Formats: sequence, structure tokens, C-alpha cells
Amino acid sequence: MSSFSLVVLISGNGSNLQVIIDQIACGYINATIACVISNRPDAYGLKRAEKHNICHHALDHTQFESREAYDEAMIQLIKPHKPDCIVLAGYMRILSAEFFHQFRHKIINIHPSLLPKYQGLHTHKRALENHDTQHGISVHIATEELDSGPVIAQATFDIASNDTIENLQEKCHKLEHILYPLIIKWLVDKHINISTGAVSFNNKLRTKPFMLDHINPNELPKT
Ligand code: GAR
Repeated sequence: MSSFSLVVLISGNGSNLQVIIDQIACGYINATIACVISNRPDAYGLKRAEKHNICHHALDHTQFESREAYDEAMIQLIKPHKPDCIVLAGYMRILSAEFFHQFRHKIINIHPSLLPKYQGLHTHKRALENHDTQHGISVHIATEELDSGPVIAQATFDIASNDTIENLQEKCHKLEHILYPLIIKWLVDKHINISTGAVSFNNKLRTKPFMLDHINPNELPKT
């Protein structure tokens, strides 16, 4: 069993979680998922964790008085696992300052837009409304500011005239399922280092994100 330990936070379907599980199972990512936590008890991602015998917790945020109290409970669940990295995989809540303090420079996030464009929700709708010609996804170091922090990598595609919110979402998911496992693999294999709060690759500071540019999601194999 690998000693590199991941904790994955989710809120919903968990398709990114599934890809990480699969890529660990096939030996592409040499890590262990110590536990999966969802703030929504009905998140399908919890079933995925259960199916693969991965420790998982439904920690319902509606049962807590404040964000701080909720995050404190989450910190107590996570700490014993001593994670090397906390992977936000569709975790749709803002994390508290204390959470970032506890797991400083260890948290990464995936977001369905080309950050710094469209932090927050409804990224596909906003890209269409603004008549953007390109859309895509970002993997970044999570910081206290929502969907901010140094971008590690992005994947882009050209928006087609008949694209809808739904198929932009689908296209983003396809790219996410390729990019997130790659970046996690590079972290696990110590090519990427985020321990200073900046991104370095093979000991060299990165000033720009890695780019997978102009990918046609329709041509990608099914994940
Ligand atoms: C993904 O598209 C991810 O980028 C997005 O939630 C989705 C989760 O899908 N995350 C955010 O919007 C974070 N701000 P999944 O549950 O199928 O992995």
C-alpha cells in the first residue's frame, strides 16, 4: 500500500472521485484514499467509496451551527489520517480559515472554468452568456479565497455554436477526468510540489499553468 495519503472531499456525484479510485486501482496513481467525506449525506460519491471499501463519512453541514463548527468536525475526522493531500472533487462549500490553517498548502481543487474567469457557480452559463469562444477547467492550489490560488494546470476547448450548458458541463467533465488524475499523479510522484504555496515542477518554480490547449472533448476516449 502506498504511503501517500489522500483525503477526498465531495458534495455530489463524485465522477472525479471515481476516476481517482480507478487510477489508483490500476496503478497509475501510487496513493491511498484514506477517506472520503461528503457534506451531503445523499451524495452518490459516498456510494462509490462504499463500493470500493474506502472509509467514508457523511457529515451533514445542515446539522452544524456554523461553518467553523462544521469544519472543526471535519478536521477531527481528517487529522488521524495525516493526509499528504486533500483533494476537493466537487466539494461545494467554502472552507474556513482554520481548515486552511490545519492543512496548509495541502489542498487542491478542480473548477469548471478557466480561472481566474468565473469563480463560484454557473460557470458554463456565464461562459455562454459572455459569448466566450473558449471554455475549460482548472486545477489549482486551494486558498482561503473561493476558487483562487495558484493554478497548476488548465485544459481548454473551443466552444461550438450549438453548445449548451449541459454539454459544456459534459465536455468539462471529460477534461477533468484526464487532467485531475495526471496532476494528482505528479503530486504523488513528487514532480509537482505545492508545499510553499506556489507551484514547482521538478524543483523549478512555475510561473504559468500547464496547458492542455484546444482539446476536442468529443474525441477523447470515454472515462
Ligand atoms: C466538477 O465539474 C468540478 O469541477 C466542480 O463540481 C463538479 C463535480 O463533479 N467543482 C466546482 O464547481 C468547485 N467550485 P463530480 O461530483 O462528478 O466529480
